[in-house]
Amino acid sequence: MKIYKADFITSGVNPEHYPEPLLPEVALAGRSNVGKSSFINKLVQRKALARTSSKPGKTQTLNFFNINDEVMFVDVPGYGYAKVSKTEREAWGKMMEKYFTQREILKGVVQLVDIRHDPSADDVTMYDFLKYYDLPVIVVATKLDKIKKSQRDKHIAAIKRKLQFDGQDTLIPFSSETGEGVDAAWEAIYRLL
Ligand code: GTP
Ligand code: MG
Repeated sequence: MKIYKADFITSGVNPEHYPEPLLPEVALAGRSNVGKSSFINKLVQRKALARTSSKPGKTQTLNFFNINDEVMFVDVPGYGYAKVSKTEREAWGKMMEKYFTQREILKGVVQLVDIRHDPSADDVTMYDFLKYYDLPVIVVATKLDKIKKSQRDKHIAAIKRKLQFDGQDTLIPFSSETGEGVDAAWEAIYRLL
């Protein structure tokens, strides 16, 4: 995948801030700190296009990135971060619900889960929400570099079981450290467009 353009376009909270719907969009979803912004950077071969942090809660708004004038990646704030007030959590919920349910140009969602752990209750809720709205989901099981090769199949099976994974969706083991899964992720994203 040759990346000749990876530009930050805008950030926004409400529909009036979204950019003109000129490109098909693929949004990220996942817990805070799971590696959503790192995933974008790895796919587009830029170290810091999407801002990352070892502390959860780095991304706070919807951030739109034009990739090759072909697809708009939409980075989003994560869920499940304990140190967030009820008001903030509700604002997050409204922002995400509006985007996921009203954005007609949204083609699908890349939901990241941590390959080391069973999906959390929030992960299951998010997956169910996306399925309810008939959005295709690519589940990316990230931080693959943190488990032994011999443990992979077991962890992947556990993730599928916990999510009640839909056989129509794709699951991709991935690492932003090693780049494993990058090609498979691009292929799956292209199939959505
Ligand atoms: P929020 O914006 O807070 O929702 O987080 P995020 O999901 O965007 O996570 P981010 O990409 O900022 O990554 C969080 C931390 O995990 C950073 O310290 C990353 O370096 C690390 N990280 C992300 N992906 C991987 C991976 O595949 N392997 C390893 N070892 N670390 C990773
Ligand atoms: Mg982020």
